[in-house]
Amino acid sequence: MGWSKTQILEATEGRVLREGKATRFGEVVTDSTKVKNGSVFLALKGERHDGHRFVPDALRRGASCVIIQRDLPGLNFAGSTVVKVRDTLRALGDLAHYRREQLSPKVLAITGSNGKTTTKEMVAAILEEAKLEGESLRGKVLKTEGNFNNLVGLPLTLLRLRRRDKVAVVELGTNHPGEIQRLAEIADPDCGIVTSVAAAHLEGLNSVAGVAQEKGALYRNVRAGGAIAVNLDDARVKKLGAKFKGKKITYGKGGAVRARSWRRRGASGIAFTLEAGRERGQVRLNYLGQHNISNALGAAALALGAGVKPADIRRGLAKAKPFSMRMQIEDWRGIGIINDAYNANPASMAAALRTLAEIRCRGRRIAVLGDMFELGRHSGKEHRAMGKAAADAAIDSLYLLGEQANVVRRGALKGGMRPEQIIIGKDHADLAAHLGERVKRGDWLLFKGSRGMKMERVLETLRRGKA
Ligand SMILES: Nc1ncnc2c1ncn2[C@@H]1O[C@H](COP(=O)(O)OP(=O)(O)O)[C@@H](O)[C@H]1O
Ligand SMILES: [Mg+2]
Repeated sequence: MGWSKTQILEATEGRVLREGKATRFGEVVTDSTKVKNGSVFLALKGERHDGHRFVPDALRRGASCVIIQRDLPGLNFAGSTVVKVRDTLRALGDLAHYRREQLSPKVLAITGSNGKTTTKEMVAAILEEAKLEGESLRGKVLKTEGNFNNLVGLPLTLLRLRRRDKVAVVELGTNHPGEIQRLAEIADPDCGIVTSVAAAHLEGLNSVAGVAQEKGALYRNVRAGGAIAVNLDDARVKKLGAKFKGKKITYGKGGAVRARSWRRRGASGIAFTLEAGRERGQVRLNYLGQHNISNALGAAALALGAGVKPADIRRGLAKAKPFSMRMQIEDWRGIGIINDAYNANPASMAAALRTLAEIRCRGRRIAVLGDMFELGRHSGKEHRAMGKAAADAAIDSLYLLGEQANVVRRGALKGGMRPEQIIIGKDHADLAAHLGERVKRGDWLLFKGSRGMKMERVLETLRRGKA
């Protein structure tokens, strides 16, 4: 919907270095290859690239306004407007915040150590089925695409807001102290949820207490007239929620939103009775794993907080589908695949192993696992625990990759697995070759590891090899 010069200056508190011809511009973009005629190009300085180097490219492509944080002497800006700010990353957030306040959708924000993207997809699916104040929300819901949850991704998400959007569901992620605080300031949420507090990103956040402090910033920034969803099954989340003064929708054991009598629906998902206050009804989820019941309850609680009716919530949950590489289930020639390779930390690893352990399976349960990153000094302990968890879950074979593979192996042996049940691959192809020799119809395979481990490659290679 574009920007006027006045709006840009008001939002960023920047200063005009050079007056251009136009006073109205198009969309804000940070990737010069996405610049169109009239765009505003904002030069971000990242770890690897400095957007200021791409200003000439942006101008060539027709940018009529550029936002920079350092001077670019000698550059010919032709007829473009140049705005200088102290910090372009901050300016990007400020512009997004401006748009959010201007268009004023209801903003639902989601953070937590695990389950953010899953919960976000569930909430968005619910909203698409729902009515608010008598009006259907279909086609009027903006959501974070994929994992655009950081100081660049969240602003870019909010900058996609259109006048017709009535609700925005956004994911807030962190690996450094203060990030959630800033993201919450930008999003100014009406409703918020912290799905869980667990050991993740310990390199940046130091300890689980540090994680709690960081995630708590979301609850602290939810509007007073808004609502928060509180997971009573997570003691740390419960404590964070206790301080909130506004409306609270609790979920989990003893909460206002609860799951009863859950059962598996073969390999296609789970079903349970959703209770919300006095309302109750069946929900069919297209997800495996008990942790996804928790995510569904969180999504339901957040939607209730936003004013959605329980019947709409049940319909929406039934429509939600796993996001790519998060507990994605498929059948490959009679072999069951759980592709959870998107990412891993200790809690999500334990949840995935539990899911594999619980699945109905005629053959063997095989876990193909890579290292968990960003655990700092806790790495050794957590990888040993991961091996032990695999043994406790009675996994039949472990196929391991990564620098910590030997540590995982020791944990598994200590937990009672036999050496012949554990194979360590030299690389993706090697691990896939070992797997290819042994995997049979009726087996179930779980693929998981940190993003950098790219464990989906083992699956791709296995498929090609067996083609
Ligand atoms: N409530 C939960 N508890 C533990 N693990 C979970 C939970 N929800 C999802 N997971 C696992 O965490 C991983 C990431 O899920 P995702 O929804 O993408 O979370 P996030 O966006 O927080 O990284 C997946 O492997 C998923 O199976
Ligand atoms: Mg995510």
